[in-house]
Amino acid sequence: MRNFVLLLVAVLTVAAQNATVQGQQAMDQMWGESVVKLRAENARRGQLFDEGNYAMFIHWGLYSMLGNQVDGKTYYGIGEWIMNPRMAGIPVDEYKQLAKRFNPVDFDAKKIVAIAKDAGMKYIVITAKHHDGFAMYDSDVCDFNIADATPWQRDPMGELADACRDAGLGIGFYYSHNQDWTFPGGGNGPKVDDQGQPATFDDYFVKKCLPQVNEITTKYGPIELVWFDTPGKMPKKYVQQLVELVHKNQPNALVSGRAGHGLGDYQTLGDMEVPQENVPGMWESVDTTNDSWAYAWYDENWKSPKEILKRLVACVGRGGTYMLNIGPKGDGSVPGRAVASLKAAGDWIHRYPQVIYGTDASPWQHALPWGDVTRKDNTLFLCVFRWPDDGRLYVPNLMTSIQSARLLGAESSDSLPFRSEQDWAVIELPPRPVDPLVSVIQLDLESPPEVDPIWAIDPVQGTEVLAEFAEADHAVKEKRRWMEKFGEWKGVVHVHDFDGDGRAIWKLDVHRAGTYQVDLVYSGTGRLVWQVGIDGGERIQNQQNASHNYQAFPIGWLSFPEPGTYSVFARCIDGDVESASLKSIQFDPVELMNDANQE
Ligand code: GLC
Repeated sequence: MRNFVLLLVAVLTVAAQNATVQGQQAMDQMWGESVVKLRAENARRGQLFDEGNYAMFIHWGLYSMLGNQVDGKTYYGIGEWIMNPRMAGIPVDEYKQLAKRFNPVDFDAKKIVAIAKDAGMKYIVITAKHHDGFAMYDSDVCDFNIADATPWQRDPMGELADACRDAGLGIGFYYSHNQDWTFPGGGNGPKVDDQGQPATFDDYFVKKCLPQVNEITTKYGPIELVWFDTPGKMPKKYVQQLVELVHKNQPNALVSGRAGHGLGDYQTLGDMEVPQENVPGMWESVDTTNDSWAYAWYDENWKSPKEILKRLVACVGRGGTYMLNIGPKGDGSVPGRAVASLKAAGDWIHRYPQVIYGTDASPWQHALPWGDVTRKDNTLFLCVFRWPDDGRLYVPNLMTSIQSARLLGAESSDSLPFRSEQDWAVIELPPRPVDPLVSVIQLDLESPPEVDPIWAIDPVQGTEVLAEFAEADHAVKEKRRWMEKFGEWKGVVHVHDFDGDGRAIWKLDVHRAGTYQVDLVYSGTGRLVWQVGIDGGERIQNQQNASHNYQAFPIGWLSFPEPGTYSVFARCIDGDVESASLKSIQFDPVELMNDANQE
């Protein structure tokens, strides 16, 4: 059976935003090009990735023992970079001494696999070697490894691979192929060897990188993927060798999108990035359960079970896979709050596995005001994160006839009452949601779903439409990334650089005529005057303050005289217009004004 092969390469280059240490690229520049890959050449390759849709990422190493504290001083940011000058700047020799006291007596591979299984995850990817160069497995290539250099002397990669296999989970390894901060010649590593002789990247590659990748792809049985990272300026010939080696040793394993030079088997988005619009092909989002990959003593900013589900369903709804990270402590134990949140979200997945596993992207191409959607053939799973107060769920512009609408987990499996209003479906819901986290309505359709993905204003719930979905006219629409703390990435597609009559323009479907409260979400400096208007219709404007953080500011009431498609614009017309950065527009129906017109 000739596997179908489509390969569409589009290169997305993301501009660097962040200050760098002398000679070192900004981290997001180090991630390399982000390339769309439609499907792996051999279909077996990446099956778990494609069908599982949900995995565990584990960052664990010597840095976990420090937990972002050195000599009593706390460093804020991603813990696995603690050695780096951008964090504590620990000298190589001093850092290597840490191995002598690394003794993770509470590490339990079976327990970690059970956490992943309870969480509903299908495979685990763990750091076999991170940028610090320490191998978290028994390597014959370099003695700076957990079996030879620590009092613990075990091989956690082997233990985890066995435990995964016993539990039916896949296993994969993270390997920092370019950066090695402790091996002579490694990326951003020592420039001379122990004898003081100059060391080249080729030395590092031949003596350590290539042989270690050979080890992790031959020592532990079949693996799911090798997760290379931060290729930076690594020459293509080296990446090619590594990809060929992985495919030779592990014909069914995937190579991550961060291999570099577009040579990975799928696309890896930026850190902590969950896309807002469907992304074609095979791709993954990688995310943290708090703000750091590795353990950081202070970091209690955990994602709630609902937040985890929101990002997971969004990922699957956009057509991708979600890999969520844990950072075990130096003793090998996993922070209890991470385990609890993962478990609660996992219980939900075990209640509705059909919503996540083997499902495809939402035909709406983006989230909807009340939640998000995944799809399996002619069935849509409506995941309702915001239960409508008036007991009616508005499903916009679904052209395909509905056979039934069943509330999963409800006592009765009868279809809920539904009717169509123009091209919208309106589903009558019980007053209260049936699930404490997210309620799911299974829509079985007569045929494959046909949807008009135009952004539609919900007649009951507030609707936020991102600038990402606007057209920029005499203004600039682009992606913007920044780090709140070091390595904690945030991003937005914003419209800015409004010149003269510059504006962001959205094409919107208004299902219910009436009056809506309009807010704009933006950042900027000082008081700004914004105008919002309907092409050929009403215009309103208001002056509001601004801050460097994105915030919603009320502009005022806007009326749509009748149902239909409208072109709505927003423009910054006064104040420090140059500083204006528009993230989204929000519509909230003004009670009473609308009902009177409709009923
Ligand atoms: C970035 C960080 C790295 C982390 C990875 C996770 O590349 O440099 O420390 O492991 O993101 O996606």
